[in-house]
Amino acid sequence: MHGIAPFHVMELLAQARMLEAEGRSIIHLEIGEPDFATPRPICEAGIRALERGDTFYTPATGVPELREAVARFYQGRYGVDVSPDRVVITSGSSAALLMALGVLVDPGAEVLLTDPGYPANRHLVRLLNGEAVSVPVDAGCNCQLSAELVRRHWTERTAAVLVATPSNPTGALLDYSELVSIAEVVSERGGTLIVDEIYHGLVYDAEVRTGLEACDSVFVINSFSKYFNMTGWRLGWMVAPMAYVREIEKLAQNVYLSPPAAAQYAALAAFAPETIAILDERREAFRTRRDFLLPELRRLGFEVPQTPQGAFYIYAGCRKLADDSLRFAHALLQEEGVAVTPGIDFGAHRADEYVRFAYTRSIEVLREGVARIERFIARAR
Ligand SMILES: Cc1ncc(COP(=O)(O)O)c(C=O)c1O
Repeated sequence: MHGIAPFHVMELLAQARMLEAEGRSIIHLEIGEPDFATPRPICEAGIRALERGDTFYTPATGVPELREAVARFYQGRYGVDVSPDRVVITSGSSAALLMALGVLVDPGAEVLLTDPGYPANRHLVRLLNGEAVSVPVDAGCNCQLSAELVRRHWTERTAAVLVATPSNPTGALLDYSELVSIAEVVSERGGTLIVDEIYHGLVYDAEVRTGLEACDSVFVINSFSKYFNMTGWRLGWMVAPMAYVREIEKLAQNVYLSPPAAAQYAALAAFAPETIAILDERREAFRTRRDFLLPELRRLGFEVPQTPQGAFYIYAGCRKLADDSLRFAHALLQEEGVAVTPGIDFGAHRADEYVRFAYTRSIEVLREGVARIERFIARAR
């Protein structure tokens, strides 16, 4: 358990809640989930499932109708043929990541991932007695791995490479041709590529292509949490190479038996055109928020060399404003009631120079947040 770090932001959140209980107004820019409620058609499908009495265990890999719906989604959105047999429905993409790593990581095996990156992954690798090899990335390589970086960090113990595109915390998109090159290097060396596409659907300035197009032996992870606004339903999926599906099924049967039933029936409405129309409108709201917050942060002295192309995060350099981003985050919360996530939650590489802003609040709230941060910085000068 020594290798498993807590989320520092949870401590900040606890402090924020305490301040709120005392009557302080807190602006939450630390929360990595959409502020939009789950679209109505999804909720209604969930309610219908409950009323029908669909409250039992389902197959460990998910209900066949949803596996088929996900497969159709790949054809409709990306023009890629995927057999429903390769689609495994999971309890959030968190469980998909655990299942994928579970079937790939033997004790001592290495997994290459980015620093900064989504922190749970290195802890899951640790739990499996593998070794997460954090590759430092920054604006110089668009905060993503490259084929060259993968080559450089590959050892005879490397089993897998994990990329997330767009990434948490940077929102950076991995260029598709680079993704193909990474897939080639990984497969030449007998390893496996895992592509976390949980923020697909929340991409603002580019066309997105799925890792499934790059090669058949890739694991693609996705979720109903972010784009589909279903964080609390705990539902995700993965598309795995056929040879691994039975292994994943065994593991899922043992770890959680089945993904949540009502959530799966609800999610059948997630791909309906009326739902997608709601979600795409919300994506535009996120874009507007990004386009508001980014220039404001730059104006205040935060450094963000590249415009984040997706997700709902801005990973901002605060070197010019503070010596240590963790202290900065604590002081900002205490003094002005603005909660942000310190870089230390995403790794060790220059973590004390960054904070993450989640633009998961309305423009009015963001505007108030910016005013408070401006006041805080002016006082510190
Ligand atoms: C990159 C990334 N992957 C996976 C997850 C896990 O999300 P969930 O289990 O809700 O699908 C998150 C959550 O923030 C994330 O940022």
